[in-house]
Parts: sequence; structure tokens; C-alpha cells
Amino acid sequence: MSKKAKTVYYCENCGHQEYKWIGRCPSCKEWGTLLEAQEEEPVEELNTLSSFQAPQILNQVQVGESARLTTGIGELDRLLGGGLVTGSVSLLVGDPGIGKSTLSLWIAGNVAREGTVLYVTGEESSEQTKIRADRMGKFPDGLYVVAETNLELVKKHYQTLKPRLIIVDSIQSAFLNKLRSTPGSPSQIKECTLFLIKIAKQENVPVILVGQVTKESELAGPRVLEHLVDTVIYLEGDRTQSLRVARAVKNRFGATEEVALFEMTGTGLVEVANPSEYLLENRNQTMPGSVIVASARGSRPIFTEIQALVTDAPEGIPPRQIAIGVDRNRLLLVTAVIQRWLGERFTNKNIFVSIAGGLESCDPALDLGIAAAIVSSLRGLIFSSKIFWIGELTLSGEIRPVPGMERLVAEGNRLGFEGCVLAKGFKLKQFPLKVYGIEHLRNLPVLAPEISRKDSE
Ligand code: TYD
Ligand code: MG
Repeated sequence: MSKKAKTVYYCENCGHQEYKWIGRCPSCKEWGTLLEAQEEEPVEELNTLSSFQAPQILNQVQVGESARLTTGIGELDRLLGGGLVTGSVSLLVGDPGIGKSTLSLWIAGNVAREGTVLYVTGEESSEQTKIRADRMGKFPDGLYVVAETNLELVKKHYQTLKPRLIIVDSIQSAFLNKLRSTPGSPSQIKECTLFLIKIAKQENVPVILVGQVTKESELAGPRVLEHLVDTVIYLEGDRTQSLRVARAVKNRFGATEEVALFEMTGTGLVEVANPSEYLLENRNQTMPGSVIVASARGSRPIFTEIQALVTDAPEGIPPRQIAIGVDRNRLLLVTAVIQRWLGERFTNKNIFVSIAGGLESCDPALDLGIAAAIVSSLRGLIFSSKIFWIGELTLSGEIRPVPGMERLVAEGNRLGFEGCVLAKGFKLKQFPLKVYGIEHLRNLPVLAPEISRKDSE
């Protein structure tokens, strides 16, 4: 094959293509995201995903049963909306070392109990995969592993084995011989994904792709493949801690606000069925700056601890506001509202706010808790750990109710909390726990003596 390679520049964020390098992508407006690549001749066969079809009257379209394949992991099935849809392509994304291979091998083992599964490993050898599997327990004989990166050969393996699930770990390591560029380049990643989508759709087999694409879309690969696949799941967590959170950021067959929680143990991942109990297990009960917050994630409420620390910024160094796990913009909003309505000065203060367990959340329901934690740190108040906080903060300092509050309070009651602080006037069913209504942030100092004590006491 003689192909003239031409240099092109792909935006790794949105996949936009340019013939010369420019600093800012004209399509997604991101800076410095254009990467050099060799342009491929269009590979016709790869790009035609379906054969010619006559348009059909919508009302007469036959809807086959969208069969779901259970992953054997309750948390993950719930996240997916009931299991893997046959013929669908799911992308499992996360930082290196977070547990993507461990999770996909776990799924592979479960699905292989009732049939054949093809696990394609491009990052590790078959032996390394076996060592990992030995660590995780017993695996059924239906699980086949091949250390292969050439997708044409993977297709052949598919045709011989006819597995009920294909896992490709990872898409960055896969390549198609027809393309000149190296594995992991934007064009390889895109065409490889299209190639696997074609197999999935034609054969009605679910495919899981593992991707080393970090959330900030660092050099590892283009985000463009997120648009191609049916489901995108981020596996996140603080690598120094054992909690892992799987989040569906795109799901053509289910909701996206769901999260699934796992714990990384010495023998693989295990499900965390009761996340609030898990997260609150090691909470610090006696420190200022710590409050318990509740947030409704998908179908399940989660209770966790927020910690804040306000310190004097060293002279000459600009003060910083650092958010770990909570959304930085929400932190900025909360501090601005505190300044305005509680008269606190943050001019020379460093503010750190973190959420326990390596969770991540941008839920506005945490606003009130973030504010309480900052005030608690600033004023040396220890808020009762038997009380949790829910509420969105408006710019004018009012506390707003959040969706699903009734359910959050019911769950807090079940977990044994004695009280909760939330938007005043919100009508709740009768619960044994005490409800502290708060209308405006400036009422916080009035409420505080009831539910806190001074650090020195
Ligand atoms: P891995 O699944 O290889 O991550 P990824 O594929 O996302 O790069 O997981 C790597 C980490 O998980 C590694 O640091 C070791 C740890 N781990 C355990 O703690 N217990 C286990 O049983 C396994 C298999 C891995
Ligand atoms: Mg891996």
C-alpha cells in the first residue's frame, strides 16, 4: 500500500482537524490541544458502519428486546441501568493505576461463568493478567485472554471464540495495520474504536474499552472517542485511599447521575453497598472544620464528611483556595457569600476544603455544609457530628432546598443522626431526628450555639 502521509493536527479535546498548527482549537476553543499526526487515507470499509437501509416508518420499526448482560456486579449493573446492553460499546476511563484492569477482569470473570469472554490485553502480558487474576480469586474456564494489539487479529479471535463479551484493555494500545500512525495516536484511537463499534453492532456483542484518558484529557488520548461510544464510565478515586467511584458520564441506556462505589482491597475490588456507613466510619468527631453533609447522587443518597481549614497566608505569597473533591467554583461562591453575609475577611487567608474518601462532587446540596465547615474552622466551632447539613446557597445568602431532600432526611434518620440543618420552611414528614431550619447564612451564628461547642471547651 502506498500512501502519502500528510501532517495534520488533531484537537485532542474535540477531535477537530487542522492542516496547520494553531494555538487554539477553533472548534472547542481550548488552548494548546492540537497534536501532530499523520493523515490517513480514508479507509472506506472502516468508516461505513452500516449497510444501505431504506427509511422506515417510525411507527413500524420493530423494537427487539434490548437484552442486557449482567456484569455480576450489582453496583455496576445499577450504574449501567441494568447491565451491559448487547451490541453496545462502553468506555471505562480513568487514571493509570486506579483499577480499570482490575474492574474489567472482574467483569470478565463474572460474565465467563455462563459463556465465553474474550479479554484482550495490550498493556500487559497474559502471564501478568494471570498473576492479577490469581490475586483476585478463582476464574472460570470460559475466560480467554490474549495479549494482542492488532485489532484485525482480535476480530479473528472473535470469530473463532464467539464470546458473549469482548474487553479491550486498552484502546491506546490497539492498532489497525491499515493506518500508518502509531498506537495511541488520535487517528488510531478513533479508527480502532470505530472498528470495534462495527463488530459490536454487527455481532450484537457488548464491548468494553479501557481508556487511559484522564478527566483533564491529558496527553493520553482524544476525548473524541467519548462521542463515539454508547456509555462512558469514569473510575475515580484518590490512589492513596481505597475508595473507588465509578460514574456514568454518558449513558445511552440509562441515567448518568448514578455512582457505584468500590473498595480496592488486597484481593481486588469489592462493592461498597453502604457508602454512607463506609464513608462515615473514620470521621473525626472532635475537630473544628468538620461537618457531615448529605447529597443525593442518582438513586442513592450519600453521606460524607467535609473538612475545611482556614489559615493565614504567609506574607508575600498570594492566598489560595484549594478544593479537593469539591467543585472549586462552588467553593469560590461559598467563600464570597460568607464574606458578604458573615463579614469574614479572607484577604490573607488560605482556604482548603476537602471531601472525605476521595469522592468528587459538584452537588450544590453541599454548599451549606462547605460554608459551615469554613465557619467552623474560622471560629473554632465544633459542630455536632450527629447532625448533617443539606442546602444550596444562593448569591444573596439564602439557603435553598435541594431535590430529594425528603429521601436524604429519611436516610439520615436510618443512619442514626440526631438532627439535620436545612432550608427553613421545608415541609417534611415526621421524623424522630430534629430539624434545624435555616433561612439565610447570616442566621448561622444564631443557630451555632445550639449545635456546636467552642474548641477550647
Ligand atoms: P489496575 O487495575 O492495574 O489499574 P489500571 O488498569 O487502571 O491502571 O490496578 C492497579 C492498582 O490496584 C495497583 O496499584 C495495585 C492495586 N491492586 C490492589 O490493591 N489489589 C488487587 O487485588 C489488584 C489486582 C490491584
Ligand atoms: Mg490497566
